[in-house]
Amino acid sequence: MITKEKLVINGGRKLKGEVSIHGSKNAAVALVAAAILVEGKVIIENLPKITDVCILLDTLEDLGGVVEHLGHDTVSIDCTEINKSKADKNDLNKMRASYYLVGALLGRTHSAEVIFPGGCNFGARPIDQHKKGFEALGATFAAVGGYITAKARRLIGTQIYFDKISVGATINVMLAATLADGMTVLENAAREPHIVDLANFLNMMGADIKGAGTSVIRIRGVEKLSGGKTYSVVPDMIEAGTFMIAAALTRGTITVRNIIPEHMESLTVKLNETGAVSIEEGDDYITVKGNRRPKAVLVQTLEYPGFPTDLQPQMVSLLAIAEGQGTVIEGIFDNRFQYVDQLLQMGAQIRVEGRTALITGVSKLIGSPIRAMDLRAAASLILSGLAAEGTTMVYNLEYLDRGYEGFVQKLAELGADIKRIEE
Ligand code: UD1
Repeated sequence: MITKEKLVINGGRKLKGEVSIHGSKNAAVALVAAAILVEGKVIIENLPKITDVCILLDTLEDLGGVVEHLGHDTVSIDCTEINKSKADKNDLNKMRASYYLVGALLGRTHSAEVIFPGGCNFGARPIDQHKKGFEALGATFAAVGGYITAKARRLIGTQIYFDKISVGATINVMLAATLADGMTVLENAAREPHIVDLANFLNMMGADIKGAGTSVIRIRGVEKLSGGKTYSVVPDMIEAGTFMIAAALTRGTITVRNIIPEHMESLTVKLNETGAVSIEEGDDYITVKGNRRPKAVLVQTLEYPGFPTDLQPQMVSLLAIAEGQGTVIEGIFDNRFQYVDQLLQMGAQIRVEGRTALITGVSKLIGSPIRAMDLRAAASLILSGLAAEGTTMVYNLEYLDRGYEGFVQKLAELGADIKRIEE
């Protein structure tokens, strides 16, 4: 969904106050797809109102599900009468997580035909591990003609070793294996909090999944999942981290509420290492107070519990104004520094060599017109604009809308001089 709006940011304000974090985008897209496996009504609370979630909900309706909006962040989904296994409507090809429909439809109807996924362009994003998992369960799998097709007469549990740690493959194969015959063991599985969240959701509906959050997940297939339950989506660690970095960047004080502080550990440690902030942690909040210019640090993105790649661009924005030379190594994706060109226009000094960015901190960034390239880069460029001198205009906001609910309003409530206007 292309938007004709842009952001106008007058930088230099310290952000101050409290912000409440929404449910996790990456968990929400898995849970909404997982509702396909459930017979009866499930209620999902704390669901972020973002484009990716809306597209998936529309798709469920198209497949024969019934979706009711019960409140701002609560929906009821009833997929008892799912009657189609082809999903290709409504911008589905613009998002990555559309491929969870393959695992969910395969699990429920033994047949899936889903338009090829899009999502952020970080270089090649193969799906060989998804294929490996589905085929091991006994399905045929093809990705040709713009569609992913998977079919099986029955799915039979087995042992699957992922050659590469993949969030998407772990979730997708979990979805397919939940209603399979017998036991599936996933080895070298991803450990992200949204994988635990999906397992909790499925278990609440009657699944038998153990070990989520570790690298070995055991899924004993059950005959059916039943609704009649209410589930609340885990808080978004990436949204939380974005605001924590915003506090450091603007030398403000932000309390990030409704979070699980343990999920923020890798960022908390790195922010402390910069010497720029003091951090207070409570049961469900973190306060970050930006005190001084950060010192440059080394950051390497890794699978959870390592430093998240989805906070890499925001961290580069922080290091762009640090003292000394920082290094950021992208450990997950081949090509996730494309947004750096936009930071250079703001006066940043960054050299990218393959998967490494070498960042020589400058004392200030200068406001400029810039274009968002992907979801998290959009957030990081906005943060840079908040810290820069002068006016920054940010274009291509459709990327931001895919994953952050009410981001601009939240920043404005924290004291940012930021407006979203027609181009
Ligand atoms: C998910 C997140 C995304 C995050 C990423 C890494 C969702 C909807 N998206 O994306 O926000 O940046 O995890 O934390 O949750 N790979 C293969 N073969 C495969 C699958 C993946 O080689 O079959 C590679 C990818 O190219 C990448 C790495 O494995 O280099 C990790 O990818 P993966 O964890 O699958 O990321 P996504 O699920 O796409």
